Amino acid sequence: MTSLNKLNKIDKRFFIKTYGCQMNSHDSGLIESGLLKNGFYKADSVADAGIVILNTCSVRDHADHKILSELGRLKKNGPDKKVVLAGCFAKQIKLKMESEKHKTETGLFFDYCFGPDEIMSIPDMLKYENRYVKESYNDDYKDVGLIEEYFSDKKLENGAAAVKITEGCNNFCSYCIVPYVRGEERSIPFEIIYNTVKKQVSKGVQEILLLGQNVNSYLSPEGGKKDFCFLLNALSDIPGITKIKFLTSHPKDFNDGLIETVCGNGKISKEIHLPVQAGSDKILSAMNRGYNRKDYLKLIEKLRNGLSDISISTDIIVGFPGETEEDFQMTVSLMGEVKFNFIFGFKYSPRPFTKAFEIVDDISLEVKKERLERVFQKQKEILCS
Ligand code: SAH
Ligand code: SF4
Ligand code: F3S
Repeated sequence: MTSLNKLNKIDKRFFIKTYGCQMNSHDSGLIESGLLKNGFYKADSVADAGIVILNTCSVRDHADHKILSELGRLKKNGPDKKVVLAGCFAKQIKLKMESEKHKTETGLFFDYCFGPDEIMSIPDMLKYENRYVKESYNDDYKDVGLIEEYFSDKKLENGAAAVKITEGCNNFCSYCIVPYVRGEERSIPFEIIYNTVKKQVSKGVQEILLLGQNVNSYLSPEGGKKDFCFLLNALSDIPGITKIKFLTSHPKDFNDGLIETVCGNGKISKEIHLPVQAGSDKILSAMNRGYNRKDYLKLIEKLRNGLSDISISTDIIVGFPGETEEDFQMTVSLMGEVKFNFIFGFKYSPRPFTKAFEIVDDISLEVKKERLERVFQKQKEILCS
């Protein structure tokens, strides 16, 4: 049996560096809570820490490169520290090691590697240096709902609280690594989310940010009809809640019922993030987005008819394989039609395991850069007009 005294022998001060999206920041909060509840302490910086946890992203190659540089720095400056690689890049590394096709000798500098579904075994792993946990972590940690209810207690900077409602994604957009590194979509049971939000409210929280890769496909697993609309209405009825935001909703699942709920419930934020990705039907279909340009424009029209002051932001990818100048022009013209309040623009980046990885990345970096510049320029013109 592994000795509990092991805990006393390691430096228990930890520092977490977070990369990527809001979901990952939330996961870092869960890791922090898990470590604090297990006798570890927060350090003020990497330099002060005995344990450095990189909670990583892998959505584009740029994200990978950031982690590789950080690992390089840690190898040089912190050989005495325990380095824990966690999150989506960590999972990518694990998957690559298991896969014949993407097999890689990592040669990377780290002590432990945990995918997003394994992060709650970090405290045990560090405490007991338990090889068993390392090879096949405890199944208790796989219950996303229980983890959420017990460990989700970190506040956002504005005093709001984020609550995870789904984990993983089943959409398999052809460019996206998320379904591979975060696994299949799991909705957290309604009761657990409800209790978690009530717990937050009892601590003074008034605003809630609901998180998921595709929040509007939420469906409580116990059967019945506790879908995203039901969840929004039930949470907004909790006394003390003043605002509910959510990230991210998928255009293909934004049905009329949800439009009605968003437009009719005063507590639901009127800032909606609705990633369109591209304006050409050919590219949308190759991306496997599940809607076309007309569907998307219709959705925007319905939302704006329901609420004139709604604010809509989006994500756009330029340079997807096969994107011609004409296809790209369709993206620019869609921006002109919708007049988004805010856009996030990205150059297409081939990701291992994805379907698009099999297609030749035929748009040069120069053209991608130039198209992205034109997207930002167009957005500037729209906001100034
Ligand atoms: N689940 C969310 C966001 C996922 S990742 C959604 O579906 O909207 C955030 C954004 O990163 C995506 O919306 C997309 O615009 C971008 N992205 C994902 N994979 C990418 C890739 N391989 N190359 C470039 N951008 C990518
Ligand atoms: Fe990726 Fe698409 Fe899922 Fe979003 S909906 S996480 S872009 S696969
Ligand atoms: Fe990155 Fe994983 Fe989020 S790949 S964008 S940290 S879900």
